[in-house]
Amino acid sequence: NGGRTHKIASIPGDGIGIEVIEQTVQVLRTIEALFKSFTLDIDTLDWSSKRYLEQGEYIPADGWQKLKASDAILFGAVGSPDVPDDISLWNLILPLRKKLNQYINLRPIRILPGLSAPLKNCAEDDLDWIIVRENSEGEYAGQGGTTHDDTPYTIANEVAVFTRVGIERTMRFAFDVARDRPRKKLTMVTKSNAQRHGMVLWDKIFYEVAKEYPDVETDKMLVDAMTVRMVLKPKTLDTIVASNLHGDILSDLAAALAGSIGVAASSNLDPTRKNPSLFEPIHGSAPDIAGQGVANPIGAFWSAAEMLRWLGEGAAAGLLMKAIETVTASGTRTRDLGGTCTLAQVADAVILELQRSF
Ligand code: NAI
Ligand code: MG
Repeated sequence: NGGRTHKIASIPGDGIGIEVIEQTVQVLRTIEALFKSFTLDIDTLDWSSKRYLEQGEYIPADGWQKLKASDAILFGAVGSPDVPDDISLWNLILPLRKKLNQYINLRPIRILPGLSAPLKNCAEDDLDWIIVRENSEGEYAGQGGTTHDDTPYTIANEVAVFTRVGIERTMRFAFDVARDRPRKKLTMVTKSNAQRHGMVLWDKIFYEVAKEYPDVETDKMLVDAMTVRMVLKPKTLDTIVASNLHGDILSDLAAALAGSIGVAASSNLDPTRKNPSLFEPIHGSAPDIAGQGVANPIGAFWSAAEMLRWLGEGAAAGLLMKAIETVTASGTRTRDLGGTCTLAQVADAVILELQRSF
């Protein structure tokens, strides 16, 4: 293959993460063979709960060096019934996002052709959103502590941390995203009526940054009312900016409204490009269906398309999205979308479509 080489660290993780990433690599190999203009140097890393149970760690000592030398990270999911969820999250995915300065979590969501979304009065084009989630601080800053554990007097506090730097860079990124979309509309989510310090700063900086973007239409929603608006008036939304916790919850709702959590993609970005960014489906390891071969791989494929775009391979990303849409429209669907296909059948259909349409 030609000049460009992209070094990809692939971390399948646990459960269905392993299944969907295996198929995603097949899809990427197909695209690489078709285009011939770039090479994907994919290094698969066995960082998982299995590894943690056997060796006491998720990320090996030389792991960070490996990641820093890569151009992008493809991630499946982490989480196992044998390891407490706070241990798995805080020893793998959260350190990756934090240490690699991936301060933006970008979650595009729309109703893919042919999918039946749960809202009665929502046509395919009525739901086309992109959620910009703050990804480095806020409610998931990890500050706090527990005193008098295992007594009736236990005290635990969970401290949300909002910084001017953290908010400002998120708002700027969100305004840039909104400006690049046809509707140029940004809705800011907050809870500044009840959370009167951090969230008030969040609001204040939003309005400050808005002055630099007079061409972007803005509005503000309290997070509880936002859930109602997403369900009842999906068409009134376009780009959405929210804190770490709010963005996490609203994007799961968004995925469900678009048909399934299994189709939704996300990018964890270091917009400064000093560190590799990480691309993952938004779903978890789904232990309830793991190992059955029925997980929906579309969220992982869409994430791979976002990765290709970030790496400058826009044509390849476009071809992959088109192939995904042709396959969803054709009725080749997994169980979560009301279909009967296996993960491998969906992957094969996408691969065939890539080859057909190239
Ligand atoms: P989950 O996303 O794994 O599953 C929620 C429900 O959606 C389950 O019924 C599952 O079967 C279904 N589902 C998820 N992805 C699907 C797909 N691709 N195709 C078809 N159905 C799908 O969330 P849950 O159950 O809350 O968490 C399970 C584990 O995953 C936990 O250990 C959790 O901590 C971890 N997790 C990890 C994440 C990550 O690695 N970024 C994100 C979310 C959860
Ligand atoms: Mg989540």
